[in-house]
Amino acid sequence: MVKVDLTGCDSFVKKEQFEEYVKKALEAQKVLEEETGAGNDFLGWQHLPSVIGKEQLDDCLSVVNCWVGKQIDLVVVIGIGGSYLGAKAAIEALSHSFANHLSSHGPKVVFAGENLSEDYTAELIDLVQLRNAACVVISKSGTTTEPAVAFRLVKNLLEETYGKEEARERIVAITDKARGALKSLSNQEGYKTFVIEDNIGGRFSVLTPVGLVPIALAGFDIEAMVHGAQEAELVLSERSAANPAVQYAAMRNLLYDGGRKIELFASFNPKLQYLGEWFKQLFGESEGKDGKGIFPASVIFTTDLHSMGQYIQDGLRILFETVVTVENAQRSVTIPSDPQNLDGLNYLAGKHVEHCNRMAQLGTKMAHIDGGVPNLDIRIDKLDEYHLGQLFYFFEKVCGISAYVLGVNPFNQPGVEAYKKNMFKLLEKPGY
Ligand code: PA5
Repeated sequence: MVKVDLTGCDSFVKKEQFEEYVKKALEAQKVLEEETGAGNDFLGWQHLPSVIGKEQLDDCLSVVNCWVGKQIDLVVVIGIGGSYLGAKAAIEALSHSFANHLSSHGPKVVFAGENLSEDYTAELIDLVQLRNAACVVISKSGTTTEPAVAFRLVKNLLEETYGKEEARERIVAITDKARGALKSLSNQEGYKTFVIEDNIGGRFSVLTPVGLVPIALAGFDIEAMVHGAQEAELVLSERSAANPAVQYAAMRNLLYDGGRKIELFASFNPKLQYLGEWFKQLFGESEGKDGKGIFPASVIFTTDLHSMGQYIQDGLRILFETVVTVENAQRSVTIPSDPQNLDGLNYLAGKHVEHCNRMAQLGTKMAHIDGGVPNLDIRIDKLDEYHLGQLFYFFEKVCGISAYVLGVNPFNQPGVEAYKKNMFKLLEKPGY
């Protein structure tokens, strides 16, 4: 199970204060689980892992089988926010770091509709034209502009290249069961469609087809991911001060109330860069409202110790860091000895690269604590589908509890509408 070690906060908070916040977190957990809090019509994610059946997983896998049959080598996944980041985070975490430069058996998954850059879009079109392509379009509302623009272009391209009939078999839509332009378009065009249930918000949807279909298409084991999440659902529903989700939620609120307004998600594993992006969206969109909320940021170490390291060590003392550690590397590389030792590195000869990484992590933790940055340590055994499933569910649960301790509704995002209204007006959308 996900492990949480809060000893890196010992010099910043008092035991009694922490116990008080654990009580608050336990109350918030009760409200969340008994579905009596704000936004309680968006709690479908809570029992999602235990209710997903084999039939639903098989349905996701049917897309993989169909497209393997067509020898599809490129899948464009179109979506933004919660309709994008979970799949992106999982695929980046589980893929070979240089997958784009290696040949592979299955299709490559690329993402679109998460920006409005014309150059990005033109380059996407270049790629789709070169490859045997298919597309998964994801939008719960079915009306979001960025994915709608990308989908119109990719749909046209597929229809021009393969004809309307064949294009239909190369498009899968994941959307609301009744509302939105994407739903009506999909019905009309006869696309295979997956439903995003009403009671699951975008940023809590990674364990629905929103995440599972792209992750399966990238060749990963969605059954194992769901099993991991099931385990987390069970363990994290314990109403106990020892529950790691309760402990973490309690500590981040205590630190926030003590003036630590920024949470840095950090990892010494670059494969977790997009998990950091997913984390920022989950917490930022859930907590940042009503003039309140921890500002989530993310860094990858040791890379960012050479950019953000200075600020973290010495800048304004409003930070705490949450470090996500994968305890066991999957591969083994040792540093060779060199007879001349011109680089002076023979003191590391025979040592694993990961050993150096661990020592860098330990050294960083000590330095940051000394510099006034509380450290929250979150660990998983290894980076595979099962543990990633646990981690996704863990952060979702923490987010629900934490936001209730903070006193906000975690399941709405009214602030996101402001830019849209201005943009629509500037684009002269009818009605604005
Ligand atoms: O978490 C959320 O609800 C949002 O980030 C949405 O996922 C995002 O705005 C995309 O919305 P939609 O799936 O309706 O296109």
